[in-house]
Amino acid sequence: MKYMQKMCAVSVFLLVAAGMVFSGGQRAQSSGKGLIGVVMPTRSEERWNKDGNAVKEGLEKLGYTVDLQFSDDDIPTQTRQIDDMITKGVKVLVIASIDGGALSNQLANAAAAKIPVISYDRLLMQSPNVDYYVSFDNYKVGVQMGEILVTGLKLDQATAANPVIVELFAGSPDDNNSVGFYQGAMDRLKPYFDRGVLRVPSGQIDRAVIGTLRWDAAEAQKRMENLLSAYYSGNVVLNGILSPYDPISLSTLEACKAVGYGTPGKPLPLVGGQDCIVASVKSILAGEQYATILKDTRSLGAATVELVNTIMQGGTPTGLDTTSYNNGAKIVPSLLLDSVIVTKDNVQKDVIDTGYHTRAELGL
Ligand code: GAL
Repeated sequence: MKYMQKMCAVSVFLLVAAGMVFSGGQRAQSSGKGLIGVVMPTRSEERWNKDGNAVKEGLEKLGYTVDLQFSDDDIPTQTRQIDDMITKGVKVLVIASIDGGALSNQLANAAAAKIPVISYDRLLMQSPNVDYYVSFDNYKVGVQMGEILVTGLKLDQATAANPVIVELFAGSPDDNNSVGFYQGAMDRLKPYFDRGVLRVPSGQIDRAVIGTLRWDAAEAQKRMENLLSAYYSGNVVLNGILSPYDPISLSTLEACKAVGYGTPGKPLPLVGGQDCIVASVKSILAGEQYATILKDTRSLGAATVELVNTIMQGGTPTGLDTTSYNNGAKIVPSLLLDSVIVTKDNVQKDVIDTGYHTRAELGL
């Protein structure tokens, strides 16, 4: 069932992408233009800049005017920006939230003004006034996070007599994506915990305990430092880290380096990540971070642009997943894209050849 939904979502995406190619120019000249509001959580993370620009450029190519705002990871700033957009009379709102549950008043105002709302990448929670969700399959991304450890740490060959030692990090507790990432990763790792071949010396496993508010890499680094001094002072050696986000991967590796990991006889723990940021791809090429997960912001942007265009033309988007994402008030129809694990082996094929990052950006 889930496979069929995904195939439908992929077909819709391909169809809409083709539609953009064949009719984009024509639409740009025809009417149906209007002001579209796009709000991204912060400018200080690489991905949201890419996301914001991909959506803006795509919409502008179709002839729309775009008000793109970044919210500095500050909830009052984000609510004010959305209020302003509603006052300005935007025709559609595209929102990547900071705290998915903090925008209910704004969403109610948007609904009262008959402004459709697209929840971008992060699900807007506890509100009936969310029309669509465009994201990646967050549970599957989580499974990939677990898979990186299973493969990289060769967990299938591990024994209970000589278990693999890891510590776990999760994303921001107020971001619903963190739930999917955590569940997917833990489901993938469960058999290894059950067999006793994978161990967490700190015992810190619950999502509430291992979460990282606002995905803050410095906070994660501090937690890693504390874990290392509390649980790894003797002979226990950390072999791996579950990381949900590239800056967390890099900062936790820094904490490990500070206590002697990454020197002869004491290799860095194996860590994955998410977002395929330039610094992490460089680290992967340098043999430090092991892997990341590429969620192509260009595809997410293109899918969003097409959805906005369909709504603006009075069409009904089809082929959406109508079962997976319950935001606490309704099931939000969703378009879910696929993500790719990137290690040293496929940086060229999946990152450079596709133009996601150029060789120059990667310092090659
Ligand atoms: C999540 C998103 C991740 C990562 C993280 C930190 O919501 O799905 O890809 O970007 O936020 O910004």
